Amino acid sequence: MTSTALTVQQTGRPTGFPTPDHFRFAESPVPEPAPGTALVENLYWSVDPYHREMMDGDFALNAPLEGRSLGRIIATRDPVALPEGEIVFHRQGWRTHAVVRPQEVRRLPRYDGVPLSAHLSLLGGTGLTAYVGLTRIARLREGEDLFVSAAAGGVGTATGRFARLLGAGRLIGSAGTAEKVRYLTGQVGYDAAFDYHEGPVADLLAKAAPTGIDVFVDNVGGAHLGAAIGALRERGRVVRVGTVGQYNTPDTPPAVFDHADLVEKSLRMEGFLVRDHQDVQEELYAFAVPHLLSGALALDETVVDGFERIVEAFLLMLRGGNTGKILVRRSPGL
Ligand SMILES: NC(=O)c1ccc[n+]([C@@H]2O[C@H](COP(=O)([O-])OP(=O)(O)OC[C@H]3O[C@@H](n4cnc5c(N)ncnc54)[C@H](OP(=O)(O)O)[C@@H]3O)[C@@H](O)[C@H]2O)c1
Repeated sequence: MTSTALTVQQTGRPTGFPTPDHFRFAESPVPEPAPGTALVENLYWSVDPYHREMMDGDFALNAPLEGRSLGRIIATRDPVALPEGEIVFHRQGWRTHAVVRPQEVRRLPRYDGVPLSAHLSLLGGTGLTAYVGLTRIARLREGEDLFVSAAAGGVGTATGRFARLLGAGRLIGSAGTAEKVRYLTGQVGYDAAFDYHEGPVADLLAKAAPTGIDVFVDNVGGAHLGAAIGALRERGRVVRVGTVGQYNTPDTPPAVFDHADLVEKSLRMEGFLVRDHQDVQEELYAFAVPHLLSGALALDETVVDGFERIVEAFLLMLRGGNTGKILVRRSPGL
């Protein structure tokens, strides 16, 4: 076992897009577990848009950061609750090693044929966000037409694949490159997609969904939100998942839309945080795992190898360099 642990720390507050200079890798000896704890060697890390929001204040400077991670227990002082060899989910990401207490980890169900990474993508918080958005917030009904922004990202690809299996009608997605647009229609099951750089979103959406939409799953905000409200049919729903279009450009003007539309079309707009819906996790497993095993569901992941590339992976994602959920893996072959 290596004797050195690495921990990423934030060193300054960014204005606009962060750069590698806002982070440093701190070296320390691998920690020893105290009684009642265990030492975890991390195997997979999630880097997420909300980390960019945390960089504005919630992440303390020059201190370990929080983030979702999967790791293996390699030494334990509580062999019953934290057995050696067990793979666990926890939130002490952005570091190679973590000392955890039983209440800080979730022991993961293992499904033969389902890769470990799925517990940070389709079966993890990303998939749960998509599933809750469709089933609890939109309350999607069979045959309803759906528009998804940031459709080629983690939540967006999961939303498209789940919506198809839940019986959605037409699926329309927007993304930032022509290659992603092709991926959405060629791989994920979207019926139509467009690159939002190619014109006003309202015009592109009108072309892709000429008869309107029933549900908008919004990962972006701004012009996407305004355009979608205009395109919604009566009793349409907006599921507000995130505002990634503004995290690095806080001066972006807020969405402009006709407020009367909300009344006249009896629309509903609702946001949510996935952390308030952990009770749906088992239902997600019951829904998604059989489809993963049958091949009806596939994982959309961009995997970056090497913990030393975690900052690079995070910055890549903020600029749209990922397709599907972006993950960092300790080494290939896990
Ligand atoms: N409510 C919750 O509990 C919850 C949970 C998880 C995630 N979220 C939110 O869900 C959204 C997606 O998260 P994710 O983890 O799946 O990330 P993701 O979509 O995999 O990655 C972020 C994507 O955002 C797109 N993007 C970046 N800047 C943009 C801009 N100015 N306009 C439009 N698109 C832009 C990029 O794709 P393009 O190439 O297409 O631009 C990038 O790939 C985020 O807003 C996140 O905060 C919310």
